[in-house]
Amino acid sequence: MIDAARKAAKGLARDFGEVTELQVSKKGPGDFVTAADLKAEEVLFELLNKARPGYSFLGEERGLVEGTDKSHRWIVDPLDGTTNFLHAIPHFAVNIALEREGVIVAGVTYNPITHDTFWAEKGKGAFLGNEKRLRVAARTRLEEAVLATGVPFIGRPGHGQFLKELHQISQRVAGVRRFGAAALDLAWVAAGRFDGFWERDLKPWDTAAGLLLVTEAGGKVSDLKGEDYSVEADSILAGNLELHPLVLEKLRAAG
Ligand code: IPD
Ligand code: CA
Ligand code: CA
Repeated sequence: MIDAARKAAKGLARDFGEVTELQVSKKGPGDFVTAADLKAEEVLFELLNKARPGYSFLGEERGLVEGTDKSHRWIVDPLDGTTNFLHAIPHFAVNIALEREGVIVAGVTYNPITHDTFWAEKGKGAFLGNEKRLRVAARTRLEEAVLATGVPFIGRPGHGQFLKELHQISQRVAGVRRFGAAALDLAWVAAGRFDGFWERDLKPWDTAAGLLLVTEAGGKVSDLKGEDYSVEADSILAGNLELHPLVLEKLRAAG
């Protein structure tokens, strides 16, 4: 998985250089980015298929491709943080998870610019690169917490709801961040950089790897009703065991 992510990322990093150039052209880099995204998914599809023939594949761009092995499924976002990529903002990721019998058992979130490789295996822990074991942050008080979130954008529902949630949270915490790549938001919760993360209307390919990263780093992931998170859920809240219930309570107060 790491190998596949790095190979796809190589192409993305090269294309990102082009995008930076294209910012000044009238036409903009839109079509070019779509092509880069599709190319990266193609690389992942080929490599993962070759490594484990028969596994099913759920990719953001091609949807579900059923394999002969229905109990295994790759869940792939070739480029998480497309809007950043499009605007030459160097914060995006290749995101791959492996699901076995409906349970996420491995996940990789790879940043093609910094080369940060966040990975986790069920029961074995979460790691950054070869050595660093990941642990969620130890902070326990909302006053010192920095939380990440996703702001709905044009064409998405929930703008009013988001403002109510932000109102509840922002007055109680040290900071709220919107960096634009949900996969990295979750990886950064696992790494203890963010104390928590919430967002609505994400898809399985945005969150599957991060769900495992955070839980293997000792954190908790639920939906905004407080139920255990499943990749099909329509909302997500991740954080350490102490802060998670405190943030959930405030988000619930938003109604
Ligand atoms: C998006 C990013 C973003 C989140 C969006 C996602 P994409 O994924 O993860 O942070 O707020 O809702 O759709 O479209 O860049 O793969
Ligand atoms: Ca995504
Ligand atoms: Ca994507």
